[in-house]
Amino acid sequence: VLAALLGLGAVLAYGERRRRAAPAPQYPRYTRAEVARHRTPGDSVWVTYGTEVFDVTDFVELHPGGPDKILLAAGGPLEPFWALYAVHSQPHVLELLRDYKVGELNPEDAALPAGDTEDPFAGDPPRHPALRVNSLKPFNAEPPPELLTQSFLTPNELFFTRNHLPVPAVEPGSYRLRVEAPGGRALSLSLAELRRRFPKHEVTATLQCAGNRRSEMSRVRPVKGLAWDIGAISTARWGGARLRDVLLAAGVRDNTGGDSDGEWHVCFEGLDTDASGTPYGASIPLKRALSADAEVLLAYEMNGQELPRDHGFPVRVVVPGVVGARSVKWLRSVAVSPTESPSHWQQNDYKGFCPSTDWDSVDFGGKGAGMGKWGGGKRGEWEQRDGERGRDGKNGVSLSPQVDVSLDGGRTWRPAELCPRPEHARGWAWALWELRAPVPAGARLDIVCKAVDRSYNVQPDTVGPIWNLRGVLSNAWHHVPVTVT
Ligand code: MTE
Repeated sequence: VLAALLGLGAVLAYGERRRRAAPAPQYPRYTRAEVARHRTPGDSVWVTYGTEVFDVTDFVELHPGGPDKILLAAGGPLEPFWALYAVHSQPHVLELLRDYKVGELNPEDAALPAGDTEDPFAGDPPRHPALRVNSLKPFNAEPPPELLTQSFLTPNELFFTRNHLPVPAVEPGSYRLRVEAPGGRALSLSLAELRRRFPKHEVTATLQCAGNRRSEMSRVRPVKGLAWDIGAISTARWGGARLRDVLLAAGVRDNTGGDSDGEWHVCFEGLDTDASGTPYGASIPLKRALSADAEVLLAYEMNGQELPRDHGFPVRVVVPGVVGARSVKWLRSVAVSPTESPSHWQQNDYKGFCPSTDWDSVDFGGKGAGMGKWGGGKRGEWEQRDGERGRDGKNGVSLSPQVDVSLDGGRTWRPAELCPRPEHARGWAWALWELRAPVPAGARLDIVCKAVDRSYNVQPDTVGPIWNLRGVLSNAWHHVPVTVT
């Protein structure tokens, strides 16, 4: 036995020494012109990153953003594309790429070709230094929790920003909004016409990103996506034309036909486009768009000022009560359609799946992709209700009429006081709340809050059962540990 163990030990030690001594693999060298010949899956797909060459033919079909997107880089450098999509700037993406390495670039070809070094985000606007930046390019940032509840309306400079692409530079004088409906008359509206032809309507609404509080989901199991804390939520008073009025002017009548639910949709496209020229897009059901009660806006004002560039200048959609992803910024077109927006961001990105769904089993087009209204059965939208957002445990924000607070991790509860809201704020905006309670010095509190709506829908107590692949709709009870000093 001893001999066998010694033998095994010697083999392992030898293997280890060999591994340490093994020279780095020698890769063949290629010119950029040689790499450029590998552009189609039928032949093979090569890309470069830095000075390395990769054959990613087998990865094309596995690319989470779709095969068409990775093929845009075929035969050339990844850098210009990765500069657009910050999701690639993570160590595990580089590690994954290394598995496909087949060569090195010739030293004289090491520099990126001219034109591929331009920063697509160079024209982005300046931002407030207080914002907590989750990703710089594209720009994604949230107000710090200390400032989130300082005022009922979030100052424009501190309003959270969620951009997927560079901010387009729009010349307001030549801006046109295209509105189309089958059987109707297409409209091409200038900014001045949008202001003049349609009565101005104002709505105080909270916008919240579907990924808000994603970082709490990641603590249960890692999810892919920006690690938002609690601040991907903000409130503004929006001013603009009602989408309903504009659709009626384009000849839209009623809601007939459409997809299997008999539901038509209104598809929006932004002026921000990806490397293939595809714009950001999303849709909402036509019924919501036409409902006077739903108050969907084509907004050109935010808290009494023209829309800031980061928030959609000159015109954006505001869909009160629905996840932020549908409130398309830098709006270039509105089209009534029998089907939902074909956009990647409608079809793939913002979807909630069963907690057991992972990247191997996910079927974005499948029936299991729960994309329904939060708490309802319809497809195509998520309503945001019941979402509390605690600040420091003694005050916070809620979208619901009742907030319960516990100081002992959920064993005992007391109702919080909702602070009076401005006259203009109705059901679409958050409510700030406050709780006064005696606490002993030195106490370690686990402050928890949960909101309850009029139908007694209540937030889930833990994240586990609502965990999902994309880390969306993270609305479990919010815990804030506090030590009283
Ligand atoms: N519209 C366009 N054109 N491009 C975008 O990247 N992001 C969406 C939505 N509209 C986006 C967009 C998402 S996911 C959210 S949460 C909201 O805008 C954020 O709006 P805000 O940046 O004004 O807070």
